[in-house]
Amino acid sequence: MSLQEAARRVRENAHAPYSNFKVGAALRTASGAVFSGCNVENVAYPEGTCAEAGAIAAMAAAGERDITEVVVIADAPTPVTPCGGCRQKLAEFCAGEVEVTMMTTDGAKLVMTMSDLLPGAFGVEHMERT
Ligand code: THU
Repeated sequence: MSLQEAARRVRENAHAPYSNFKVGAALRTASGAVFSGCNVENVAYPEGTCAEAGAIAAMAAAGERDITEVVVIADAPTPVTPCGGCRQKLAEFCAGEVEVTMMTTDGAKLVMTMSDLLPGAFGVEHMERT
């Protein structure tokens, strides 16, 4: 199954009764495995989690760490870019040149690299003196 199809399918499982905004995310790792996640909202709003966080958690739980490709999809007028927190979460496991494809359910696409999405990212190199 393509990464785009995986993201499209997992989006259907999103728990988004408060925003009614379902998001699906799928990522591929260096091993070729695909992991996917959807947003899971909560009546205590800040406890909700984004689709990207779900996909990353599934990947980490499987013992994988190295993301090579990401797709995010939502039913929006334009491709939805990951929130700031998710950019930092993705950057933990994506090299700067990894492509993040953002899609609408209508098929519009926007492709950006991780470093374009999070320029000047805080990284492990900033902690070298510790
Ligand atoms: N959301 C995601 O899951 N990923 C994104 O990239 C953007 C926003 C979710 C969070 C919340 O459940 C809903 O979309 C509305 O913000």
